[in-house]
Amino acid sequence: MLSWDDQDNEHTTATPLKASSATSTQALTDSARRVASDDSNAVARAKAALDELDIQEGLEDLKGSAARVNVDAKRMINCRADLNQLVPFKYDWAWQKYLDGCSNHWMPQEVNMTADIALWKNREGLTDDERRIVKRNLGFFSTADSLVANNLVLAVYRLITNPECRQYLLRQSFEEAIHTHAYQYCVESLGMDEGEIFNMYHEIPSVAKKAAWGLKYTRSISDPTFETGTLETDRELLRNLIAFYCVLEGIFFYCGFSQILSMGRRNKMTGVAEQFQYILRDESMHLNFGIDVINQIKIENPHLWDATMQDEAAQMILQGTQLEIEYARDTMPRGVLGMNAAMMEDYLKYIANRRLTQIGLKEEYPSTTNPFPWMSEIMDLKKEKNFFETRVIEYQTGGALSWD
Ligand SMILES: [Fe+2]
Ligand SMILES: [Fe+2]
Repeated sequence: MLSWDDQDNEHTTATPLKASSATSTQALTDSARRVASDDSNAVARAKAALDELDIQEGLEDLKGSAARVNVDAKRMINCRADLNQLVPFKYDWAWQKYLDGCSNHWMPQEVNMTADIALWKNREGLTDDERRIVKRNLGFFSTADSLVANNLVLAVYRLITNPECRQYLLRQSFEEAIHTHAYQYCVESLGMDEGEIFNMYHEIPSVAKKAAWGLKYTRSISDPTFETGTLETDRELLRNLIAFYCVLEGIFFYCGFSQILSMGRRNKMTGVAEQFQYILRDESMHLNFGIDVINQIKIENPHLWDATMQDEAAQMILQGTQLEIEYARDTMPRGVLGMNAAMMEDYLKYIANRRLTQIGLKEEYPSTTNPFPWMSEIMDLKKEKNFFETRVIEYQTGGALSWD
C-alpha cells in the first residue's frame, strides 16, 4: 500500500497523509488543497520572517568589528579580526601550502594494485615477517588518519583563528580522508579481514599505545566548551599541535612509512608502497605546516614558551619516539627487508632530533645518523616521476574493484 511518507518528496508535510482503502478521491483533493494552502502560508511566513531580519543583529554574532580587515590584526590564536575574510594574507606560507596541497591531488583508485593482489594471494609470495609488516601498518594507519582528521575538524579548526591557515586545514582534512580511503582500498583489494585491520588499535598493544597517547591530547580541546585565551588553555592547544603534528604525523608514521617503502624498493607490494609514497608526500607537508603554526604561535605568544613548556614539549617528543621504537620492535621481531629494529631505532632518533630542532629545542640523541637516506629522496618526488615505476592505470570512477 502506498503511503505518502514512503515517497522521497520535498513537499512532504509535517503531518503525513496516509492513503488508506477508505480514502476517497474527494478526500485526496481536499488534502491537496490543504497542502497548497499550508504551502502558501509557509511562503508568507518565510517572507514575513525575512522582513523582520535585522542584518546588524545577525552579523553581531561574528567576532570582531565590522571594519575591513587590517593584516596587522591577524593572529594565529585568539584573533579578533573577521575570520570569514580570507584576504589580506598575513601568513603567505599557509596559502602557498594550500596551493601546493591542491596541486599534489591524487586518488587511491589511480594506483594499480594488480601485482599486490597476486603476491598477497600467493602463499609463497611473502614471508610471515613481511606479511606482519603489511598488516600491522594497515592496522595502525587505517585508524590513525581518522584520529588526525577528527582532531582537525572537531578541535583544531575552531581554535586556529586565521582564515588562510583554516583554508589549509580544510585541504589537510580532505587529504586525511583520502589516506583513510587508501588504506580501505588496500584492505579491500587484498581481501583482508577488515575487522582485524580496522580494530587493530584496540587489539594490538603496540598500535593501541600510540593511539591512546594521541587521544590523550585531543580530549580537552575537542570539548565544544573549550576556549583558548588563558595561559593554561593556550598551552593546552599548543600541546595538542605538538602531539599531533610533531609526534603523530611527525614520528608515529615514520617506522611504517619506511617499512612499506622499503618493501616497494624490493619490488614487493608496489601498489601499497605507491599509495604510501603519495601519503608520505602529503604528510611531510602536514608536518611542515604544523611546525610553522607552532613556531608562529610561539612568536606571537612568547609567554607560553617558557622553560617548563619547553621541557614538556621535549618530553612529549621523547615519549613518542620511545613508543615508535617499541612499535618497530613489535613489527620487526627479526631483520626483514634490509632493515631491523636497531636500525629503525637509529632512524627514529634521527627523526626525533629533527622534530626537536624544528620547534627550537635542542637535540636529545647526539651523534645519530640517518640509516635510510633514500627516505628523504622519496619525500621530494613529484607524482609524475613514479619511484617504483608501476604504471598508473585508467582512472576508476564509481566502479568496484574485481580481481577474480
Ligand atoms: Fe594522513
Ligand atoms: Fe596528515
